[in-house]
Parts: sequence; structure tokens; C-alpha cells
Amino acid sequence: MKNELNRREFINAASVLGAGLTMGMPLIACNTAGATEKPAILGGPKAFSGKWTGWPVIGQVEQDELIKVLNSGQWCRLGAKTARRFEEEFKKLFGAKGALGVSSGTAALYTMLGALNIGPGDEVIIPPYTFIATYNVVVLHYALPVFVDTDLQTFQIDPSKIEAQITERTRVIMPVHIGGSPADLDSILSIAGKHKIPVIEDACQAHLAEWKGRCVGSFGLAGGFSFQGSKNLNAGEGGAIISNDETFIHDCYAFHHQGQGANSASLEPGKGTRGTNLRLTEFQAGILLAQMTRLTEQSNTRSANADYLTKMLNKIPGIYPAKLYKGVTKSAYHLYMFRYDSEKFGGLSIAKFIEAMNREGIPCGKGYGKMNKDKYVTDLARNKHYLAIYGEKYMNQWLERNQCPENDKLTDQAIWFGQTMLLGSKTDMEQIAEAITKISKNPGEIMKS
Ligand SMILES: Cc1ncc(COP(=O)(O)O)c(C=O)c1O
Repeated sequence: MKNELNRREFINAASVLGAGLTMGMPLIACNTAGATEKPAILGGPKAFSGKWTGWPVIGQVEQDELIKVLNSGQWCRLGAKTARRFEEEFKKLFGAKGALGVSSGTAALYTMLGALNIGPGDEVIIPPYTFIATYNVVVLHYALPVFVDTDLQTFQIDPSKIEAQITERTRVIMPVHIGGSPADLDSILSIAGKHKIPVIEDACQAHLAEWKGRCVGSFGLAGGFSFQGSKNLNAGEGGAIISNDETFIHDCYAFHHQGQGANSASLEPGKGTRGTNLRLTEFQAGILLAQMTRLTEQSNTRSANADYLTKMLNKIPGIYPAKLYKGVTKSAYHLYMFRYDSEKFGGLSIAKFIEAMNREGIPCGKGYGKMNKDKYVTDLARNKHYLAIYGEKYMNQWLERNQCPENDKLTDQAIWFGQTMLLGSKTDMEQIAEAITKISKNPGEIMKS
């Protein structure tokens, strides 16, 4: 959880640094002249001279949608229209047959598992390189989260290691499109198909990310998105589920609406025997409709800037931007993720590198920790309910099964930039590269500083 705060903190830091929008600024030719200057941490000028884009972007359209909901007096989705309007727009934009707005990304994942009637004795496969919510939603159903190691090159779940973790208890495979870059969907879907296990995509960071030209989220049975304040589509809090299986969307509706069916006025029963209230408010839906008017353009800007940055960073020894799988036709770049090899920087520690980058005016952070080794997670093996459901022997074996050596390596080397940093100009990207180049030329001096 601490690491998630890091993510949100530096996305906020980037936003606070610049309230002005730099989108639409003319793109200029590559200029890395400043790379010969002294690093800022040694008293030189900062590499970054601009302003990061503030987040969220707010305009008249947000005010109009909110006022409409306010004056309607219908603030709950039941009997009202805004949430339904949002769901129509969302499913169209994301290319799915059905969509359901819910109260958060966590609620989206929890609802999908609830609609599948996941419960005690079941296992759900997840990656360790993710926000803790991916784990929590499994535990909230008293199912067992089983970790599959990370692919060091892409930061995504390693599909070649999934089969070894499938048991007769496995009920769901839940890959995460981490950073907004699609996981290897072809490989994951093929393994899931072979074992007849549904895939639920945690697409909470992956708005408009594409696999082979189609938006992620509905390749498996269904997918969940988050609209929490740091996300590329932001309503402060909120979430959505998409699926091409309309019956499943109906089941999700029932679970998130106290077990009742879509026709709430008649309390038509939904499928299943459990439910809760995880409904989206009309206010959230209004904000989402407004924010969605900019989503495509913002996504294209992030993509173009990230591609440009990757080209520059690939030339710096010791900096390894996360690779994209061949099937990825677009990343949402909620995070720009790369690995840092301190040996190639004369032994300069990752902490000192990050400090030097921050001094250049470039916010960055270390990202997720080793979730599978976190006390919050390992204590599950001593939880009285889990001991009652699975037994001590199985829970001890679970601790053994959860080893993820590649993820251990990744979490020691990973660094992130936040999505708002990709909403600026090409010059901003050049200045990021320039800062790293300056640092790479002066590791000895920086170490002594
Ligand atoms: C990968 C991932 N899964 C799930 C969530 C949970 O979303 P929310 O914060 O909207 O509940 C998040 C949000 O940070 C996330 O990044």
C-alpha cells in the first residue's frame, strides 16, 4: 500500500509542479545540448525548465455535466439516466457489448469475482507486480491469491509460469495490464482456454490500451477499470466493468445491487445468492462523461511522447524501458516504467539516482515493492479463517509457492514516471533524457554529494 501512495504522490507532484497545459504546444526538433551541463544535484541548472500538466484537466464540460445532475435532484443511479448514459458511451469507446459503472476499480474486480461466485476453497492467479487491490479483492471472497512471477523485460505477469500454478482449485486467472501496457493476452487466453478457466482482466490502469488493435478489458470474460484520482480517466473515485457477455454484465449488476436484477423498480431477482451496494453515483457518471471527451486525445499524446522517450532512453546504457509484447498496438502509459542498472552508472544507487532526477525537476519513484513477501500478505498464512478453510499445511505450501525471483529483481531496479508527465511536449521528453544523460556522466561526483 505504501508503494501505491508513492505512485499517487509523484503523479500529484508532477501535477502540482505545473498547472498550465502544455498539450498542443509545437513539437520541436531533438535538442539535448544541456546534457553537457553539470547535474542540478552538483549545482548545475535543472534539466527540466517547463511545467508538468496539472491533473485533472477541468473545463466547462465538467461544470455542465455536474450542474445537470445537481439540478435533476436524482443523484442515485436508480431511476436516473446519467450512469446509463455513461455506460453506453464507455462500452462504445472501449468496443465491448456491455458495461457497468461501479463505485471503484476495487469494486469492479470484487464484483466480477462475486458474480462468478468465487469463495472459500477457490484459488485465483494474480501477479505480484500490482497494486494491493488486485490481492485484496480475492481475499475479501476468502479465496486464495496465488502469485505468478513477473516477466522482467515487460513488467507483466509471465505467461510461461502460469501453468505451474494451476491446481484443481484454480477458478480465475486475473492478469493485470500494469502501467497500462497489455499483458501477453494471446498466451494467457490460450492457457486459460486449455484449462477452461475464465480470465478476468485487471485493466484498472489500462484505459484505451490495445492488443492487436482492440481495447483491452473484454478479451477475457470481463475486465475492470479504475477512475480513482490518479488514473487516466478520473472521477476522484469510480470504476467500470466491460464484457462481451451480456449475461455476465447482468450477473455483475445483480451482485453490485444487493442481489437484485437490472430492473430495480420491480426488484426482479438477479442470479446468485450474494450481493452488496457498489453503485456508481450520478455525479461520478457526470464527471466521467465530461472527462471522456478528452480521453482519446490525451491517450494519443501519452503514446507519442512515450514512444519518443523510449527511443532516447534505449540509447542510454543502464536504462531499460519496459518492453511491449508484439501484440501491443497501444499502451495507456498510466506509468512510464523502466529499469535502472546501477552498475552501468558506476555503482550510483537507485535512491541517489532518483534524488538526482528530482533535483533536475523530474519527479520519479521506485514503484511497487515485493507484494508476495509483504507481511500484510504473508500473515494470511496465519489468518484463522484461512487456517480453517485451507489448513495449516496448505497455507505453508502456499508461502513456498509464492516465490517470485524475477519480481524480486524487478522491484530492486524499477523506476516510474507518472502519466501526467507524458501529456506535455517533446521538449519535456528531451529534458528527461538530458537529465539522465547528465547523471550518467557524473556518477562519482553525485555519490560524494
Ligand atoms: C492495478 C490496479 N488494480 C486495482 C486498482 C483499484 O482501483 P481503485 O483505487 O479505483 O479501487 C488499482 C488502482 O489504483 C490498480 O492500479
